[in-house]
Amino acid sequence: MKLLALTCGRKMANCEILTKEALMGAEELGAEVEIIRMLDLEIHHCNICWPCPAMMKGYSSCIHKDDGPFLFEKIMDCDALLISAPVYSLTPPGYLIAIRDRILGNKVDVASLAEVKKSQGKDERFDFTFHVDDRIFKKRVGAFISVGGAVSHDWVTLSLPLLYTMVFPMEIKVVDQMQVCGVADDGAITLKENELQKARDLGMNIVKASKQPYDSVKFVGEDKGVCPVCHCKAIVIDDDGSIICASCGVRGTLKIEGNKVIPIFLPEEQDKSHLFLEGKKIHHFEVGNVIKELDPYKEKIPELSKKYASYKSPVIPPSKQKKDK
Ligand SMILES: Cc1cc2nc3c(=O)[nH]c(=O)nc-3n(C[C@H](O)[C@H](O)[C@H](O)COP(=O)(O)O)c2cc1C
Repeated sequence: MKLLALTCGRKMANCEILTKEALMGAEELGAEVEIIRMLDLEIHHCNICWPCPAMMKGYSSCIHKDDGPFLFEKIMDCDALLISAPVYSLTPPGYLIAIRDRILGNKVDVASLAEVKKSQGKDERFDFTFHVDDRIFKKRVGAFISVGGAVSHDWVTLSLPLLYTMVFPMEIKVVDQMQVCGVADDGAITLKENELQKARDLGMNIVKASKQPYDSVKFVGEDKGVCPVCHCKAIVIDDDGSIICASCGVRGTLKIEGNKVIPIFLPEEQDKSHLFLEGKKIHHFEVGNVIKELDPYKEKIPELSKKYASYKSPVIPPSKQKKDK
């Protein structure tokens, strides 16, 4: 079993130390482990070319010649993925999110790719053929470690929810996650025996999960959070007063008992979580309809856009004097 750890903090700082503790635990149970220091990689942000050469021919065809294809190959090669990340301004680091948009996200969405695969790479909405890499469908498990310097939870609110966006398109099943607070100085985590132990257990939990039949794998993290599906705690109140899990999209309602707010997520709603194929399929077809509904009006767009294309003055050229496309 190959466990790949992507660590996003500084070299030998808190995230890396917790990652290594987790990997020691995993190795004890027989896993083959590897670490990629994400700060060592050079990965350009996605330019959203359309059609995307990587989606048509694979990542080596991307316009950017950098570590993107290397990282993608490493992820494809693993059986389990651990992501450890510091909290920067409430979220995981921006470079990790940029990497998601470049090589993961919709490019590895198993619901969309399964539909495209059924039609030999064709999607009726687009006039090109998709390259479908079957390794994307491999059943993997994963876990997250998030490290914040703040003691108070209000400074780490979006970290675990956003880490989910790294893995849910490929349906990597998260079996454990931990949010560490109050660890800022280099190596300060070495003084927190309980957090090191949690990381070691997390590493072991990944290996144990990978040995189980995928369908029976359950979340075993200590903190069960608020959402019963992703176990995160970020909730959005929608316009109609219903609630949405900000991370995995499950809808529910709130009940108030005394001074406690109790979220209720019905089982049929839980099944539509972005974490599951059903939830991703709903999104795939919903976006498909948006595209189809536009069809009769498409020809109007060039004419309506002229006003904005000719309004040039506020566009400042980048410092390297790249040509404005
Ligand atoms: C740019 C920046 C922004 C940060 N923002 C937050 C934050 O919003 N919340 C928080 O709890 N910690 C924040 N921190 C603290 C880091 O999460 C913390 O120091 C962590 O240990 C860094 O990980 P590392 O030691 O593995 O590099 C921030 C640190 C930096 C450098």
